Amino acid sequence: MMQASAQAQPNIALVKYWGKRDVAANLPATGSISITLESLWTRMSVEFGAAKDRLVVNGLPADEMLPRVTRCLDSVAGTGRAGARVTSDSNFPIAAGLASSASAFAALVVAANDAADCGHERAELSRLAGLASGSAARSLFDGFVELANTSSGIEVSTLAEPAEWPLQVIVAVTEETGKAVGSGDAMIRCAQTSPFYQSWVDRQDEDLAAARAAIAGRDFAKLGAIAEHNCLKMHSVMWGARPPIVYWTRATLACMETVRDLQDAGHAVFFTIDAGPQVKVVCLPESAEAARAALASTDGVRKTMQSALGVGARKVTVV
Ligand code: PMV
Repeated sequence: MMQASAQAQPNIALVKYWGKRDVAANLPATGSISITLESLWTRMSVEFGAAKDRLVVNGLPADEMLPRVTRCLDSVAGTGRAGARVTSDSNFPIAAGLASSASAFAALVVAANDAADCGHERAELSRLAGLASGSAARSLFDGFVELANTSSGIEVSTLAEPAEWPLQVIVAVTEETGKAVGSGDAMIRCAQTSPFYQSWVDRQDEDLAAARAAIAGRDFAKLGAIAEHNCLKMHSVMWGARPPIVYWTRATLACMETVRDLQDAGHAVFFTIDAGPQVKVVCLPESAEAARAALASTDGVRKTMQSALGVGARKVTVV
């Protein structure tokens, strides 16, 4: 087979990856824990046999993203491979802190592996996705996912399947345009200039242990407390960088206040925010509708998207 397609969903980190221990090998400074979503997706098709690589994203040529895609294809199928025609389609805004690179590279490695018949196992595909985008390594796996740092690299695994703890996620989209500073450059700037960076790295194992225990015990309040703490700490590291990196807008803050109001009213919800102004709200199913309605009517929210937890990247037939 020379052509194959795959689908992957973004994942949202509850204990974040922010910083690299090896920039060239794109290895993270710490482990991380995330949830894979269900209803937001990226579908990638790869067809080998062209003279050179070509990339079309949501129907438009995307030459500026091609070098990263080419490097990723080389890592999966080798540098002696044929050129590839790659098409990517997503049902959510890309490059705005919504983890589009995670779903894109997770789907890309699965499609390329299948199209070129490389026979890589899931662990290897996860490593190769992580080489392209650190968070993409986690989108190869279902539900609650831990990425562990090992002496030689990373090891990713599922801590709990979606059906074992079926949480809901509401994404409050506040802006649909791309971000000012990409996460890779932002991480490097934080490591070089933020006085809070080293303590962030040093304390990460504690946060991972707390989140792991909360997931094992299905303790929503504990999971929310550690996830909000870890998110605010990551953004504090960014605010302390020079020049500072501030992804939040007034709409981001308004959404955080909405979450506090929901919590005060007794709803089981917590927020997390990545390298962008969007706010992701994790809920127990019984609080999801109240959270969606409250976020939709929050100032500056353009739209909301809702998702259950889902499975890792997999082959699909795209017609
Ligand atoms: O995978 P990258 O390089 O786009 O970095 C992801 C960084 C965060 O989304 C902010 C945190 C995370 O763990 O996903």
